[in-house]
Amino acid sequence: MKCRKCGGQAVLELPRHNAAFCSADFQEFFRKQVAEAIRKHKMFTREEPILVAVSGGKDSLALWDVLIETGYETAGLYLDLGIFDYSVESKAKCEGFAAARGQKLIVERVADAMGAPIPEVQKATRRPTCSACGLSKRYLMNRAAVEHGYPVIATGHNLDDEAAVLFGNVLHWQTDALSRQSPALASTHPKLARRVKPLYRLSERETAAYAFLRGIDYIVDECPFAKGATSIAHKQILDRLEEQSPGAKHNFLFGFLEKAKGYFDGAESVTLQQCAVCGQVTTGEICAFCKLHDQVKRRQAGPLSSTREGDRHE
Ligand code: AMP
Ligand code: FES
Ligand code: ZN
Repeated sequence: MKCRKCGGQAVLELPRHNAAFCSADFQEFFRKQVAEAIRKHKMFTREEPILVAVSGGKDSLALWDVLIETGYETAGLYLDLGIFDYSVESKAKCEGFAAARGQKLIVERVADAMGAPIPEVQKATRRPTCSACGLSKRYLMNRAAVEHGYPVIATGHNLDDEAAVLFGNVLHWQTDALSRQSPALASTHPKLARRVKPLYRLSERETAAYAFLRGIDYIVDECPFAKGATSIAHKQILDRLEEQSPGAKHNFLFGFLEKAKGYFDGAESVTLQQCAVCGQVTTGEICAFCKLHDQVKRRQAGPLSSTREGDRHE
């Protein structure tokens, strides 16, 4: 197998691109894909500081690495969810990465903001852990960006993540979610940071290869609550399709973004205002994070107050 660029020994084959690359040319290809994502969706300029949300996994650390290498001004944001050893280890990976590269890492603890770590928060809600976790992550990411003066938050979502989310949204024709599915979400309120996904053009296999070739030390284990998640089932279905016809995921996601997304634009029109309790943006009077925080406090106050009828159906 020869590198498409230099003819040297290839280390990675990319059937989707009908190509193979040596290590140096693959890294170049990877950086070009990120640059193309940033350019095409006007994600950020050279003058803007970027807050990179890092989980300690391969995708977000690969993203941070590319942005540092390309010369962007960045800081990392790690959200400590308090999920047992998984959080301890993933935090250590982010701290190690930041220290080795002399970068700033901001750490926010869910337990500080919510009064309890994610496994405890989940018990107060009776909803899947990922739903309380996702809500907390979105809230704390935006709050940190606004408080520390970062206009834009970059996450490590890759092509596989985005294709799987699209698949789930299409299965249930969730038109409001389809209208929001984009590699770059604009700010619609002074207290809302832009959100961008510069890795959306790169597959999970490609980000894993990049992280490996760059010698990035990342956490391999998944979150213990991820087992059995529907998003994983959707990924497996798409993996099977990809195996049979390379490029299927790419065509599905890019076809949506280029040809279909326009149909859903405007499906969701919401006016944002500031939460009466915390001042963060929300569509209602009190934000979902503050409502959840309230549920957690009531549960902590005693078993009777946590089983009140209203709590179950909020
Ligand atoms: P996930 O939803 O776990 O697939 O993660 C998607 C992206 O969200 C990651 O690539 C990160 O950019 C970000 N992210 C996930 N977990 C955390 C965390 N604990 N702290 C900061 N960012 C995170
Ligand atoms: Fe949120 Fe696993 S990372 S529940
Ligand atoms: Zn609030």
